[in-house]
Amino acid sequence: MDIISDKVELREQIADWRQSGEHIALVPTMGSLHDGHLALVEAAREHAERVIATVFVNPTQFGDGEDFDDYPRSLELDKRKLKRAKADLLFAPDTETVYPYGAEFATRVSVPVLVDELCGAARPGHFDGVTSVVTRLFNIVSPDVAVFGQKDYQQLLIIRRMVTDLSLPIEIVAAPTVREDDGLAMSSRNQYLDDTERAIAPQLYAVLQGVAHALETGAEDYASLEREAAERLQDAGFEPEYVSIRRAESLEMPDRDTDELVVLAAAKLGGARLIDNVLVHV
Ligand code: PAJ
Repeated sequence: MDIISDKVELREQIADWRQSGEHIALVPTMGSLHDGHLALVEAAREHAERVIATVFVNPTQFGDGEDFDDYPRSLELDKRKLKRAKADLLFAPDTETVYPYGAEFATRVSVPVLVDELCGAARPGHFDGVTSVVTRLFNIVSPDVAVFGQKDYQQLLIIRRMVTDLSLPIEIVAAPTVREDDGLAMSSRNQYLDDTERAIAPQLYAVLQGVAHALETGAEDYASLEREAAERLQDAGFEPEYVSIRRAESLEMPDRDTDELVVLAAAKLGGARLIDNVLVHV
């Protein structure tokens, strides 16, 4: 598997593949890869003959005081993992390649809805950074398909909306969340947890499953369910940011007739900010 950091070289390789009639699937990541990322590569293989993974820790999606400097970076290890997962190419550009005028003076792509609530409320500008970099990666690679994880549910919906709104000729594929044996959603940020916190962390998924079960068995008082779940997280040692029951297809507020729901949560645990969600059919 090749690793390329130059745009021109990347495009030459892609042009070769396209000339042979091959389709391209893209898996954007920020690296520090785990089995959740590698499952996206596997899903991508089912949609295209060639799979390109990208590793780029995108400065524009981190806020002041967030973990951009500390974000785990392990390019050599990532390369070995991607090779084992049978990715065809790793694109690992530097900041100047992605942002030729510098990140500060970059043209921005901003979706005007969904970005200021849930994770966006605590991370102003975060999703603008995500949509801006994903657009850049789409323009550099021109993939037929791009794969994103349901783990970042709000991100997935915002990207879907952007692609529809801008008529980008790219199919967005969603891949299910990959979890540790104890239920904790895999995340590059789980490395920030110490042993005590790591033992508490699976409670996030357990609490969400509790809400899902209550909904499945007829509970309809969403506000109480959200409040009780946040209290359970607090009691377990988390600092909950939100627990929210939303419409799965749009993240709008549900009403009693909504039958496809998603329960989403974000909570701090020690130095880590963890997010998770579960889909519920009622
Ligand atoms: P990153 O957090 O590295 O995640 C890259 C992709 O992996 C995202 O689509 C994310 O949803 C998916 N992913 C992460 N953990 C997962 C898990 N446990 N199971 C399944 N999929 C999982 O998300 C980003 O990077 C960035 O915002 C990016 C889209 C690359 C833009 O910079």
